[in-house]
Amino acid sequence: MTDHAPALIDRFGRQVTYVRLSVTDRCDLRCVYCMAEEMTFLPRAQVLTLEEIARLGRCFTELGVTKLRVTGGEPLVRRDVMTLFAALGPLPGLKDLTLTTNATQLPRFARQLKAAGVTRVNISLDSLRPERFRAITRKGDLAQVLAGIDAARAAGFERIKLNSVILQHRNHDEVTDLVDFALERGLDITFIEEMPLGRIGAHDRAEAFYPSERIRADLGQRFELIPTTEHTGGPARYWRLAGAATRIGFISPHSHNFCSSCNRVRVTAEGRLLLCLGQEHSVDLRRVLRANPLDDAAVKRALIKAMAIKPEGHDFDLAAKPVIFRHMNTTGG
Ligand code: GTP
Ligand code: 5AD
Ligand code: SF4
Repeated sequence: MTDHAPALIDRFGRQVTYVRLSVTDRCDLRCVYCMAEEMTFLPRAQVLTLEEIARLGRCFTELGVTKLRVTGGEPLVRRDVMTLFAALGPLPGLKDLTLTTNATQLPRFARQLKAAGVTRVNISLDSLRPERFRAITRKGDLAQVLAGIDAARAAGFERIKLNSVILQHRNHDEVTDLVDFALERGLDITFIEEMPLGRIGAHDRAEAFYPSERIRADLGQRFELIPTTEHTGGPARYWRLAGAATRIGFISPHSHNFCSSCNRVRVTAEGRLLLCLGQEHSVDLRRVLRANPLDDAAVKRALIKAMAIKPEGHDFDLAAKPVIFRHMNTTGG
């Protein structure tokens, strides 16, 4: 026996301290880079119950995880999801309880989320033009999302972060407008390179690719970007503008490989533990949970054992046929 509490450490010495829990594969939007227009969603019996997800959250925090992020699909479309936040909020050892959302339901839930102990929210926003927003999300109403952002601010969330996936010819000319929007409201913003997860009808990923360096060059025409070493525990690298609170992040899985400092794993809505977003290595936690309903030690053993198959990294190739068949909505990013 050692004096140290057991922790989740992989073969490359990386410690997992950040877990992303997907609570549903469903969503009220259909972003072109995330989903096909017609999707078949999981039957309910295959999805973890909210109690099972809370139990996993407890096991993870007992193994040294300090940050949990609830994702989807769109997490706030899951019925009774607020009971999950209420269960996760008080977990000892948890420093950050965070949410990634498309904001459509925030007018209804922002205050309750804050009261349940959610520390930060990340909100997807790819365009400030209603007709474009509708085209990218296939059915979204920009006004509803802007009302969601206002609701999160009014509820007192700090360091709200916008996530913008930038696609050539769809929204690449809006990066300065998006930064202005963030600046006016004191929000952070992260620009994300599209990742090739799942086949999506007519959407051509190689053609839509818009690298982070080009976004920085575009922003450089208007702003002076100052590089920083700041971290939010995720994969973004941040820049700042002189005199402003806003941080401008870039998630660049193609041009900057951040795998060597990877600190995270994700659990799909079905309870599959994915050891890397860009690989298929996984463990069926739903089976472990259901076979050991009263034995958290067995669940924790499975989590520790899974560290042995966490791969060294991912290698996205936009020109190749997708090697990852799951869509982003099964992992929530
Ligand atoms: P912060 O806590 O604010 O740092 O959040 P985050 O960037 O970890 O989470 P968010 O849900 O806002 O995700 C933003 C984007 O980062 C999504 O497109 C995710 O798919 C992507 N992302 C998060 N983790 C990984 C990862 O391990 N690999 C890759 N390739 N992308 C990731
Ligand atoms: N590539 C990059 N980011 C994606 N997201 C969804 N699908 C993709 C993809 N294929 C983003 C969403 C959201 C975050 C959770 O993941 O915009 O902000
Ligand atoms: Fe829904 Fe988010 Fe996927 Fe868009 S990116 S369809 S908002 S889950």
